Amino acid sequence: MTHTPTPARLRGLAEAADLSRTPVDITAVLDHLVAEADTAVPTSIGFPGAVDLDHREVMARLGHRLWNNIGDPTDTGGTPHTRILEQAVIAWLADTLHMPTDDRWGYVTTGGTEGNLSALHAARRRLPTARIYYSTAAHYSIPKIIEMLGARGVVVNASADGEMDYDHLAVRVRRHRRWPAIVVATAGTTMTEAVDDTTRIHTILDEHDVPGRHVHVDAALSGIPLALDGRLRLDDDSGIGSITVSGHKFLGVPTPCGVVLIRDSLRREGTPVTYTATLDSTVTGSRCGLAAALLWHAIATHGREGHRWRVSEARRLATYTVDRLTAAGWPAWRHPHAFTVVLPTPPATVRTKWLLATDADISHLICMPGVTQGQIDAFVTDLTDTTAPASSPDPGHPHPPRPIPHPRRASSPAAGIGTP
Ligand SMILES: Cc1ncc(COP(=O)(O)O)c(C=O)c1O
Repeated sequence: MTHTPTPARLRGLAEAADLSRTPVDITAVLDHLVAEADTAVPTSIGFPGAVDLDHREVMARLGHRLWNNIGDPTDTGGTPHTRILEQAVIAWLADTLHMPTDDRWGYVTTGGTEGNLSALHAARRRLPTARIYYSTAAHYSIPKIIEMLGARGVVVNASADGEMDYDHLAVRVRRHRRWPAIVVATAGTTMTEAVDDTTRIHTILDEHDVPGRHVHVDAALSGIPLALDGRLRLDDDSGIGSITVSGHKFLGVPTPCGVVLIRDSLRREGTPVTYTATLDSTVTGSRCGLAAALLWHAIATHGREGHRWRVSEARRLATYTVDRLTAAGWPAWRHPHAFTVVLPTPPATVRTKWLLATDADISHLICMPGVTQGQIDAFVTDLTDTTAPASSPDPGHPHPPRPIPHPRRASSPAAGIGTP
């Protein structure tokens, strides 16, 4: 079974979905889409969407009408909306992060990217001349947002394991120390799930006496797991001004969404809009109330303890995966807190079947909640079958694994974002 739809299957779907042909067989098109997705699931282990939660109750009860949380999340009027649930989600996440109750604000976004945009926009309004520092392992949305804001970005090296290179940050800050600094730390980099250390970032900003600062944490994947551990905190001591998490990653919400939280004292209030009777404080105007309800439901059905258990099970499977791959002669590693397992890029035959994420020599799979030991075993079997010595002389069958950059401290605890 392969996850990649063949060109013939794609052509068939495109023809069936062609709206210039009438009548369109709607049932056939939807059946086709669902069948493709169902076929892909068992071998989709490279992207960070949990698949263990059941969201059908919300889809069934709310999916038939528009729920529009237009404008500020604290407003209460307007057309049918789910702002009450949105506020509950914001409060739960802010509490989990130990954010001061009198200095918090946030809303449900379309995803991690919008959260980063909202937070960096707020930071830049307060510090218009700031340089925005981000590492080479930061998400691709960061340089795009800097460009959209017309801001000045400063790129900092990341080490082989994906964490920011603080010596290089110090060099870059020294050079630009006349300007305020907005620093984007990542909690869970896209390829290796590395966590940048905000304490070390603050120390460097202190040493260079920068005239104003904002530290934003892009925690799309790892924000909720690390917050549940108590390792990621937005209390007064953390000095963190804002954070973004994705909703379709750890909580597996079946529509892209996320949450941004910003210290209320670090942002400007939105402007009133008369005809919507709301404050314009969010990046988009209309906002998806269904996403807020889905997030609320995912949190409510499991609670903090249930989600902690999901985190520990996912990490247990990630540890097992590293052991299995290493025993099979395929040198894999992970950060101790991570669901992500990094390995040398498997041969194309394996990657055609298994949906991994690949960046040149390294690939990753992610043991998100819902990924099973059976999937991992099947993957390792395919990998070892393809690279077994008997098949090596065949040029169509690739090589045994090549070494990958050795992580600096893959066995040390997660770096000190709010280390308790
Ligand atoms: C570190 C990081 N930030 C931001 C994002 C963007 O999230 P979204 O796709 O929800 O916009 C991702 C997505 O993979 C990510 O890994």
